[in-house]
Amino acid sequence: MILENLSSNIKTIVSPDFVWGAGISAYQTEGARDIDGSGKSIWENFEQGRRIKDRSSAAQACNFYNSFPSDLSMMNWLGLDHFKTSISWPRIMPDGGGAVNPKGLAYYDRLTDEMLNKGITPWYVAYHWDLPQALQDKGGWVNRDIVSYFLNYLEVCHKHLGDRVDNWIVMNEPIVFAGAGYFLGIHAPGKVGLKNFLPAMHHINLANAEGINFLQAEGAKNVGTALSFASIQSVDDSPKNEEAAQRVHATINQTFLDPMLGNWYPTTIAPFLRKIDKYVRSSDMTRIRATPDFLGVQVYTREVVKHSYLMPYLQAKILSAKKRNMPVTSLGQELYYPALSEILDWLVSHMGSKKVPLYITECGVSMPESDTIHPVEDGYRMQYYHAVFETLLPHIQSEDVRGLFYWSLMDNFEWAEGYTAPFGLFHVDFNTLERNPKQSAYWVKELAERLKRG
Ligand code: GAL
Repeated sequence: MILENLSSNIKTIVSPDFVWGAGISAYQTEGARDIDGSGKSIWENFEQGRRIKDRSSAAQACNFYNSFPSDLSMMNWLGLDHFKTSISWPRIMPDGGGAVNPKGLAYYDRLTDEMLNKGITPWYVAYHWDLPQALQDKGGWVNRDIVSYFLNYLEVCHKHLGDRVDNWIVMNEPIVFAGAGYFLGIHAPGKVGLKNFLPAMHHINLANAEGINFLQAEGAKNVGTALSFASIQSVDDSPKNEEAAQRVHATINQTFLDPMLGNWYPTTIAPFLRKIDKYVRSSDMTRIRATPDFLGVQVYTREVVKHSYLMPYLQAKILSAKKRNMPVTSLGQELYYPALSEILDWLVSHMGSKKVPLYITECGVSMPESDTIHPVEDGYRMQYYHAVFETLLPHIQSEDVRGLFYWSLMDNFEWAEGYTAPFGLFHVDFNTLERNPKQSAYWVKELAERLKRG
């Protein structure tokens, strides 16, 4: 009954060509990393440092590398016609640059063809965090040379797959891989401090813009990038706390959006960003701009902020959701349904005339689940999608939201959380590799059927 109401509400608003899809990423699912000539990525190294919560690794993960034909049949079963995954840079260029690995490229050929044969439209993310270790040995994103390595890699991807692939997402969530990987050290490559973060941030921005411009110049039809955002609120309305919240907001939500729009870094709000000047060359102001065909939006939570003299750079503290007595996800983030729509409101006003079409390129949630019976009872996930879709609906037309991808098609390796945070519509038994639809998968399938029924 409730699904009936939701689907008819969606139908009155959403056009038939609205993109409904699901996503995964290469490193989190493919496994098979030691075969067919693949190189190593920074994540493989990071895992060895015992930095993963459950001490697991992505060596096997979902074995998507070998099981993609049946996994794509799960997409058909769900009734979702768009599939987002990423290309593994070390798989196709084991040393990051130079020689191309034909077997790696052949795998992405097979994967692409299988999608097309099954009536599924591919969306490829070029960079979803698995940097070749060979490039990290040269400094990774901290070394400015990475920009040209990245463009060479993009050229290989597009040259090889561009005849069949229209939809390209240049980067996935730069603030997360720059912040967690090059400032906090909690993601690969485990680097810390401003001296790593600021140059990494600047080089990622350059690579992102030049990547978008390059693919557009090559004639790719639909080129975007996917940024993550968090809704930021001050703990109260005192000016001190409000200003602290603005600094956090600028750092999380603007550092990878503003430069691309031609607005440079938000240094007035967050003065510590001025130190970026050290890494900037005179032509960068121009090189860092791009007009993507779309922006991918990924919002998982909100953060509540308080002023703190003790915190370096930001003088701001993010208050833990648990201590605020709010419901939390497996990642300890606040379960907060309006976060996405709050960000959409902000994006529209912030981007102004530079606003481009939006896709919700990831949308998902994870809470502890019991897998003793199937289908896994993940009512919380259906509740999440239901609530988020309701908050999203009023934005779809006015803000030109053109699609949404469920995260994730199946449970997978959740980075530093290992296998402790299941995000899938399908449960994966990581011993047998068997997949089973969860209750939410039936919900997604029914919604897709209702929406297609006309
Ligand atoms: C995103 C990331 C995904 C996945 C998801 C769930 O930040 O792009 O790879 O990990 O979060 O936490």
